[in-house]
Amino acid sequence: MIVSLIVAMAKDRAIGKNNNLLWHLADDLKNFKKCTLNKPIIMGRKTFESIGRALPKRENIVLTKNKNFKADGITVFYDLESALSYCKNKGEQEAVIIGGSYIYELSFPYISQMYITYVDAQFKDADTFFPKFDFSNFEILSSYSKSKDENNDFSWRFEHLKKY
Ligand SMILES: NC(=O)c1ccc[n+]([C@@H]2O[C@H](COP(=O)([O-])OP(=O)(O)OC[C@H]3O[C@@H](n4cnc5c(N)ncnc54)[C@H](OP(=O)(O)O)[C@@H]3O)[C@@H](O)[C@H]2O)c1
Repeated sequence: MIVSLIVAMAKDRAIGKNNNLLWHLADDLKNFKKCTLNKPIIMGRKTFESIGRALPKRENIVLTKNKNFKADGITVFYDLESALSYCKNKGEQEAVIIGGSYIYELSFPYISQMYITYVDAQFKDADTFFPKFDFSNFEILSSYSKSKDENNDFSWRFEHLKKY
């Protein structure tokens, strides 16, 4: 099973503030949908709460240490390895880690593919960041850019990377 990661980050690797995103990028949301649809998505409890609901047409897996945590339409695990084994045993081809910061860091040893959106903006008040990562073992398979427009607060560049 391929373990992928998807993230949108601004300059200084900023990904969030006050448990929310820092931008509205309609076309990047379409990207997110395309990369995750019909695949299990794995997220931290805070990211789930920031989204506010289970996303349709994907199994939503939420990681928490809280044994009492429950919400509609989600599968709960208490560690990443159990969540990945569950996906693998179900015969999934790909599981996608969707954040946030803690869960990205936990997932690094397992990641062989990444979908990264680089947002051309700086947020001095961001409070959540993509962890430092060594990209030297990854090659860019494809990339494209989108200019700022009425549906996208900022310009951004998307990269699809794969481990060598
Ligand atoms: N730009 C992007 O692409 C992107 C993507 C995702 C999220 N975000 C942003 O990132 C922020 C949320 O991310 P975050 O880093 O604060 O939190 P997070 O990683 O989404 O969730 C953290 C929580 O995950 C659980 N957790 C952490 N380590 C665990 C482990 N080893 N085993 C089981 N559960 C574990 C804990 O839940 P409990 O406290 O319940 O135990 C912890 O509080 C928001 O601002 C969101 O908008 C941005």
